[in-house]
Amino acid sequence: MNFPADFLWGTATSSYQVEGENTNSDWHAWEASDPDRIKGDLSCGQACDWWRNAERDLDIAAEMGNNAHRLSLEWSRIEPEPSIFNQEAIERYRSILQACHDRGLEPMVTLHHFSNPLWLAEKGDFNSDIVVDYFRRYTAKVVAELGDLIPKWITINEPMTYAVLRHMTSDFPNAGHKGLSALFGAIHNMLRCHAAAYHIIKSEYPSALVGTANNIQIFEARPGGNAIDRWWTTIIDRLYNDSWPDALHTGRFRGIVGSKHFKDLAGTCDFIGINYYTRFYLRFPPPDGFVDREWGPDAIVSDGNYGEVYPQGLFQIIDRAWKRYQLPIYITENGVPDAADRIRPGFLLDHLRHVWHAISFNYPVMGYYHWSLVDNFEWDRGWTQRFGLVEIDPVTQERNWRSSARLYQEICRSYSIDDDMAARYAPEMLDIMWPGAAPAQSQ
Ligand code: BGC
Repeated sequence: MNFPADFLWGTATSSYQVEGENTNSDWHAWEASDPDRIKGDLSCGQACDWWRNAERDLDIAAEMGNNAHRLSLEWSRIEPEPSIFNQEAIERYRSILQACHDRGLEPMVTLHHFSNPLWLAEKGDFNSDIVVDYFRRYTAKVVAELGDLIPKWITINEPMTYAVLRHMTSDFPNAGHKGLSALFGAIHNMLRCHAAAYHIIKSEYPSALVGTANNIQIFEARPGGNAIDRWWTTIIDRLYNDSWPDALHTGRFRGIVGSKHFKDLAGTCDFIGINYYTRFYLRFPPPDGFVDREWGPDAIVSDGNYGEVYPQGLFQIIDRAWKRYQLPIYITENGVPDAADRIRPGFLLDHLRHVWHAISFNYPVMGYYHWSLVDNFEWDRGWTQRFGLVEIDPVTQERNWRSSARLYQEICRSYSIDDDMAARYAPEMLDIMWPGAAPAQSQ
């Protein structure tokens, strides 16, 4: 299964999760004020030590045959105090971005990935209207200082996930704002921030591509569910998966009741970024934790009951995104927590098969960024879930290539997946992906 010669093969990371010692971030304060908030014994700490040495892992990405990397900037480093920019931090980002280019890794840069400057959190973060002006100024500074090195931009990572985790759960810092009105207040301000950032970037760099990374999952009513479960599923699916990208498309955000128009928002999206992980079953009323965590007997379930492996969902989402928006598509995240690398090789092959299938039917899927290059700090789940192609010991900082990393290297170098790779890395996939290729059983 061959991929186009201009396909982008990458991995994705985010600043707070890999840089370490982001002491001006609200996530740092959240961790420090109550260590029980983070699963396991380890805090973010020095993470993967990228602030000092991102180059070590960028070398690994290059050796893995990648030609792209998605990373984020930590707003709290660039603007540690309101309107005070840290030139040294900006220079460090310049050197990291240059290091990407030097290694043939085209950077895709996220301006906001889940963490805020502490001062912004103290002013109410995205619940406060002042965020829009601050985000505009932060973006203008980044564009002026680093824009020449950034061909692809994500303004905000997973806005819906951010808003839900901050305002509907106690898993993320939330500046005390909880409930539906905080949730929609934050989303409205994120839409304003996105629109402002889009226009600033495009006015300086008209050919840069700008979008958002959307967490789009498959939602289905629980097996054997009733009409109310199905009705509920439709509502959640539309709100969580469609309402944000629809708003960027039309300029109008549809919440639970009614809709709201936002100035300068329509058409502020050059591509659809899809972060796809799993399929969720829903029921009404929702259980604790919101989604059902019971799987069918044949389901392959990843570490920590994170979710089942459901590769065909990726094709379904690509199809849906194309039909709704007719824009180029990037898979901006896709991965699985699997410390033992038991299911990741098969996961990788099967998800890429669905990307290949889409490309073969002319869906414009332009690139794939696996989450993640190296194990990193998994927010409230700390270091208990390992998404890296490369394993990291956060204490010694030792790196170890998992078997999936070698497989991804073969894929990226050859622009293809084939049954020989499956036979060597994930023989269980042979029958599923190449049913005709398995040797015939003797009678
Ligand atoms: C987030 C990442 C996170 C990953 C795995 C995504 O929703 O963007 O920051 O590490 O999921 O949980």
